[in-house]
Amino acid sequence: MKSTPKQTPSVDSLLNGNRFVRACLRKPVDCTPVWFLRQAGRYMQEYRDVRKHHTLVEICRQPDLAAEVTITAAEKLGVDAAIIFADLLLPLEPMGLPFEFQAGEGPVVHQPVRTAQDVAALHIDRADELEYVARAIQKVVSHFGGRLGIVGFCGAPYTLASYMIEGGGSRNYIHTKQLMYGDNSAWRRLLDKLVVVLTHYCRLQVEAGADVIQIFDSWAGSLSLADYRDYALEASTRLVRAVQAMGVPVIYFGVETTGLLAAMASTRADVIGLDWRQPLDEGWRAVGHTRAVQGNLDPITLFAPLEILENRVKEVLRAAAGRPGHIFNLGHGIVPGTPVENVQAVVKMVHQFRLAEAAEAVHG
Ligand code: CP3
Repeated sequence: MKSTPKQTPSVDSLLNGNRFVRACLRKPVDCTPVWFLRQAGRYMQEYRDVRKHHTLVEICRQPDLAAEVTITAAEKLGVDAAIIFADLLLPLEPMGLPFEFQAGEGPVVHQPVRTAQDVAALHIDRADELEYVARAIQKVVSHFGGRLGIVGFCGAPYTLASYMIEGGGSRNYIHTKQLMYGDNSAWRRLLDKLVVVLTHYCRLQVEAGADVIQIFDSWAGSLSLADYRDYALEASTRLVRAVQAMGVPVIYFGVETTGLLAAMASTRADVIGLDWRQPLDEGWRAVGHTRAVQGNLDPITLFAPLEILENRVKEVLRAAAGRPGHIFNLGHGIVPGTPVENVQAVVKMVHQFRLAEAAEAVHG
């Protein structure tokens, strides 16, 4: 156990913990912390160079490579948090569902889950096979030594279930919803199994030193509010609470979730990730100011001329109104072809923005 020296409250107010972790906990910060979904990826030359010699899954499975890719991206951008380089689908393999990434097509699961028997065959006792992610986290933690927040992550039960059932990405989620509506006990059993595996996976990451866990419910927006409540919320809530019980804050993120935000906040996740379709202040109101929020610049704004980009960045910051508990990010991941210098410019804009001004402008 690390011992924490006793500090007076005023010293504590800015020095205890890095600004990313402080913002997750809605503590005051010196400036708004910033990082980017998919900050390590194909838009970056250094990543493409590593990819010339290794597949995506090879990078994930070799802690030296995964740590290198994670660290290089975070240092090059000057961000406040480093997300561990891994993929959402890694837990499928130890559950008995091999997959691969096919060029240009995204992930393909060879034998998708379609029936109660398929669900029954899934393993829940092999999550230790994901140890390699924990080893990569240890390397990143020892490199940064607390300077940046280290983000571990996993998929939410609904989103992972949809990949397992569809066998890859999907437009209409027909197979997923057929199982969900048509065989409720198989659906519940599948989510229960995912919660067991994901909880164990997150524990490996937290024990390795992850400061925060982000749960990606990327496809939650395919559900109506009623279906989200009836078929996805309870399993997500269990996962959020299990991770919080490990002593770290949780960020819960989804896309096209405007109608789901209040329900997502009911999981009591510390931070709710907002996509860009709604102004940040409206999203935060829907979430409630007792939670922190992360977001929410449209990732394609990074292709705009700097002047327009700066206007949009400031719009997001002003909407946050200097309130503690805002982490600047995109509303979804950086896409290939994004100019790296624009991403770096956003980091500077966010760090130079004067929080006090925003607070005064809004609160008078
Ligand atoms: O800095 C980072 O964020 C990198 C770590 C990371 C990856 N995947 C590496 C990756 C993270 C956080 C993910 C999460 C992930 N993976 C999600 C949730 C985030 C989201 O976008 O909502 C999802 C849905 C996946 C599944 C996945 N992985 C898809 C659909 C694809 C193919 C789409 C594409 O962009 O090609 C991947 C591939 C993948 N995972 C890449 C990276 C960097 C693409 C680059 C490559 O092939 O090398």
